[in-house]
Amino acid sequence: EALSTLSITVVGASGDLAKKKIFPALFALYYEDCLPKNFIVFGYARTKLTDEELRNIISTTLTCRIDKRENCKDKMEQFLKRCFYHSGEYNSEENFAELDSKLKKKEAGKLSNRLFYLSIPPNIFVDVVRCASMMASSANGWTRVIVEKPFGRDSESSAELTRCLKKYLTEDQIFRIDHYLGKELVENLSVLRFSNLIFEPLWSRNYIRNVQFIFSEDFGTEGRGGYFDNYGIIRDIMQNHLLQILALFAMETPVSLDAEDIRNEKVKVLRSMKPLELEDVIIGQYKGHNKGGRAYPGYTDDSTVPKNSITPTFAAAALFINNARWDGVPFLMKAGKALHRKRAEIRVQFRHVPGNLYKRNFGTDLDKATNELVLRVQPDEAIYLKINNKVPGLGMRLDRSDLNLLYRARCPITH
Ligand code: BG6
Repeated sequence: EALSTLSITVVGASGDLAKKKIFPALFALYYEDCLPKNFIVFGYARTKLTDEELRNIISTTLTCRIDKRENCKDKMEQFLKRCFYHSGEYNSEENFAELDSKLKKKEAGKLSNRLFYLSIPPNIFVDVVRCASMMASSANGWTRVIVEKPFGRDSESSAELTRCLKKYLTEDQIFRIDHYLGKELVENLSVLRFSNLIFEPLWSRNYIRNVQFIFSEDFGTEGRGGYFDNYGIIRDIMQNHLLQILALFAMETPVSLDAEDIRNEKVKVLRSMKPLELEDVIIGQYKGHNKGGRAYPGYTDDSTVPKNSITPTFAAAALFINNARWDGVPFLMKAGKALHRKRAEIRVQFRHVPGNLYKRNFGTDLDKATNELVLRVQPDEAIYLKINNKVPGLGMRLDRSDLNLLYRARCPITH
């Protein structure tokens, strides 16, 4: 390891994604000692910045886990010293050649592995990949590229994008990322299903009435309209984040935990899905309003959004999986920006108890009496199961309670 180095180039370093997620995530990896001993991080974007200016920008976004705050400042400084910046155009071979010489200098003759994180819109993926692979590939180690959604606008443009990337890269150099798969609760979904005896037998149309995947944010586009308006909530959240979770939720047991085996099962779920009908979808766009003496702007009030935009910022859809396990069970997705609160959840609603002896005690609202399993992805991660039980005391009053696994209480160290 001492003889090799990892060079990470964040392309689109001055953008929202890089600032919000990529640099903080790289720092978190560094903090947890998950990066190799020798590594450097280069920011690449069109804005003219010095190394120092980039460091100042990044430094405001880095965070430490609560329990380890003491040495946090030092760690941040050490990390920032390894961060550099190169300004260039996204389609300029010359600018990438300059980056290459800067990288070479820092790599100082060691075996170098190079990673390019494309934190940019997909219409410039191919330009960047062409320039980076031709002018800034590693001469003696591997070169890999990480891409995020939106990967095209539809299946045709996505296939076209893959075709173009393949001119410069082999499939094993391309890593497609969905950051929701890194969330604790989403990682835990398979553990919950496959390492507990009690859930999997219930995981089918026989016991589950519907499943809901809910994403909401309490803020709007706030200056990201340039990106968002071209894609809308369906491509921004549903087609990627929620669909990934749905596939993990609904898949059969994979042959092993190998990425390929899991991928194969997810693909089967997607291929069994009934094409979405227009009547099973509703869309909307947030309007401005006043509340508590504060004015909340509407979507088209955002200066980065065209005034006549009809791009959806809210969507709800009922999806169906036509296979033996899920036939007839609605998988409901709801996603929206600028709603009343921020949350991401999976809700599993179970069927009614057939011939329920306690029917009378629930009055007319039997729906309230069904069991529900909730995986709260964020905020305040939790898994809870709603059950019915007797209120202690004389008589037979029933009440709904939660068996609650609250992460904050169970694993305080990591929170
Ligand atoms: C991104 C979307 O993929 O996910 C954003 O482009 C959204 O619009 C974000 O705000 C939400 O991610 P998280 O991890 O903050 O819930």
